[in-house]
Amino acid sequence: MAIATEQALPRILTGIGEEPMAELESHLDVHGPLPDLRRWSPEQIISVVERSGLRGHGGASFPMATKLRAVASRRKPKILVANGTEGEPASKKDRVLLRELPHLVLDGAAIAARAVGAGEAVIAVSDVDERSARSLELAVDERQHAGLRGDPQFQLFGAPERWLTGQESALVNVLNGGPGKPTFGPRPFERGVRQRPTLVQNVETLAHLALIARHGADWFRLLGTDRDPGSALVTVAGAVSAPGVYEIEHGMPLEELLQTADGREPLSAVLLGGYFGTWLPGAHIRGVRLAAEHLAEHGASLGAGVIVALGQSACPVAETARIADYFAAQSAGQCGPCTNGLGAVADTVQQLATGTASAGARAELARWGKDIKGRGACQHPDGAVRFVSSALRVFAEDFDDHARHGPCPRCSHPPVLPATPIPAFPVAR
Ligand SMILES: Cc1cc2nc3c(=O)[nH]c(=O)nc-3n(C[C@H](O)[C@H](O)[C@H](O)COP(=O)(O)O)c2cc1C
Ligand code: SF4
Repeated sequence: MAIATEQALPRILTGIGEEPMAELESHLDVHGPLPDLRRWSPEQIISVVERSGLRGHGGASFPMATKLRAVASRRKPKILVANGTEGEPASKKDRVLLRELPHLVLDGAAIAARAVGAGEAVIAVSDVDERSARSLELAVDERQHAGLRGDPQFQLFGAPERWLTGQESALVNVLNGGPGKPTFGPRPFERGVRQRPTLVQNVETLAHLALIARHGADWFRLLGTDRDPGSALVTVAGAVSAPGVYEIEHGMPLEELLQTADGREPLSAVLLGGYFGTWLPGAHIRGVRLAAEHLAEHGASLGAGVIVALGQSACPVAETARIADYFAAQSAGQCGPCTNGLGAVADTVQQLATGTASAGARAELARWGKDIKGRGACQHPDGAVRFVSSALRVFAEDFDDHARHGPCPRCSHPPVLPATPIPAFPVAR
């Protein structure tokens, strides 16, 4: 593996807008061929990933090498699932990757499959995302015709378009012919698709792996921070004139990103990390850097890279009430604290928003937040209560105002946070 000295961005988004990157020829012209994977032992690949510090980009930021080891150490035949379902309504980065850079994802899948000893790789996309499916289909065909060595057997799969489908055990369940609900039993790395040890990895994580295989672990660490090396794709939305998918260096100042996206108006807050994320008050944006070790000081994380700017013309209470309803509706309805708890949270937030809540409503919400946390089979309820608690804290005055006087004039403004999938965003060039 050659170690390049190139430090600049873009990395993942290189060539987009200049070359037809979805085509194999352009992909190889821009990135060069993958090294011959058959000459790498699984342990060699895993140790490069370990040294690179690559973490997952699907939301939990889990170290990839740890997962690779867990799956590789199992005896039975393995399988890889590339998670491109992107159920978060405000996120668009995975769709951009699948549509515009399918070969980067397939390269990464080939390397990850080799690392764990999987002969098959399933690329899962949303079943309404026809453009991504088409782009992947063409890319897989091209690779087969070109006789690329080292590819596993690729298989495309359309998963039901739902928030929960992307949760790894739910996705495995769907792939096994069941409903798209998280399961309580063994984890996918123990027993997953067709009872095989299964590595589930976000498609962006795989795209970074494709570049690490070409340029090395040290190259990857030339950008970013100690805890969060490298770059990340982020989807920027809300009160900006240039919403879209951007590639940032981990540690980039949030203010700089918002300026790049042409922030439009004074902001009341910024949502960091998407719907499972945390609100940061507009007055606290200065000095915030987009890397785990910096965001932790604000109780936030980058999650799957969704960043939404909330302008002062939007009503944070109405936004919170709508998303709390969305969370309740997305529960898989199989764990009591999630099914009943999120419904009660949504109803109470709705009452606060309309000025019909009881005097103890907020204390009740705080209590439920603690009771619900950690009591589901998946992290859905934890993420939901994190979002609501953060809104209650950051927008305390707005909630007071609504509790006393009912809806404000801003409540009727068009929603900022989508509660159903929204059309594709442009890619920042
Ligand atoms: C409710 C819920 C929804 C999720 N949706 C997605 C998704 O759409 N895409 C994704 O890659 N990961 C999603 N995840 C995370 C996956 O469970 C899993 O951690 C991830 O695919 C692993 O890939 P990574 O380690 O490369 O991030 C979701 C998790 C939860 C709890
Ligand atoms: S915690 Fe909620 S969403 Fe997760 S499995 Fe249980 S009921 Fe379903």
